[in-house]
Amino acid sequence: MNIILLGPPGAGKGTQARILVERDGMVQLSTGDMLRSAVAAGTEIGKQAKAVMDAGALVTDEIVIGIISERLEQPDVKGGVIFDGFPRTLAQADALGELLARKGMALDSVVEMRCDDDELVTRVTGRFTCGGCGEGYHTTFKQPAAEGVCDKCGASDFKYRPDDNEDAMRTRLLAYYKETSPLIGYYHAKGSLAAVDGTAEIDEVTAQIAAALN
Ligand code: AP5
Ligand code: MG
Repeated sequence: MNIILLGPPGAGKGTQARILVERDGMVQLSTGDMLRSAVAAGTEIGKQAKAVMDAGALVTDEIVIGIISERLEQPDVKGGVIFDGFPRTLAQADALGELLARKGMALDSVVEMRCDDDELVTRVTGRFTCGGCGEGYHTTFKQPAAEGVCDKCGASDFKYRPDDNEDAMRTRLLAYYKETSPLIGYYHAKGSLAAVDGTAEIDEVTAQIAAALN
């Protein structure tokens, strides 16, 4: 099964994608994570993307379509893909449709994760992730059981994203409403859209996604 998790910054796309990876063995393709890896590795793409990402704006379609196109060449995508944070523009959605068609892959469902803006700002400004395994945490909603130690891998260094501040978040939300939200109508018209309540508890959102995919 190949699905898209579509939603504003902080809606829980990454959180739910990781649960689906663990439960169903699907592959998570997060363009945000791939770009952050490119920034950390200091590649040419990383250099081009860093300032844009830090400000909360969108990286060019050309760059992200190139990254996804290359990633879809790997054999592991045959077991099912969760697109997390891609596509984000109509041009990216068209390109994804063409890429999947060329590879004989179907798009089974697009899950829209709905959430209100105040909740999104609270979520991203409190977010941190494990530097060892990438597990996501939140200062209020999801602290590690033992302070300073990752529940999953036991590592004790945590990362904070440079774009998780109120200024960049405002730009990210604007980019979502201007560039990405038209995809809701786009996929609705194609008959593949299902919506879940992203403000519910993490387990409840997981259950709603499972119901939407059945
Ligand atoms: P990206 O990394 O995709 O960031 P984003 O879309 O802003 O989304 P986030 O990762 O912030 O949120 P999420 O929905 O994954 O939420 P999470 O599960 O972490 O993109 C970053 C940047 O890269 C972009 O701004 C752009 O510059 C560039 N980029 C990436 N893709 C691009 C593309 N296709 N085109 C152009 N540019 C692109 O959850 C957030 C927090 O809330 C966590 O702390 C979590 O623990 C908590 N939480 C999650 N669910 C719940 C819940 N149900 N209840 C309470 N807390 C919850
Ligand atoms: Mg994410």
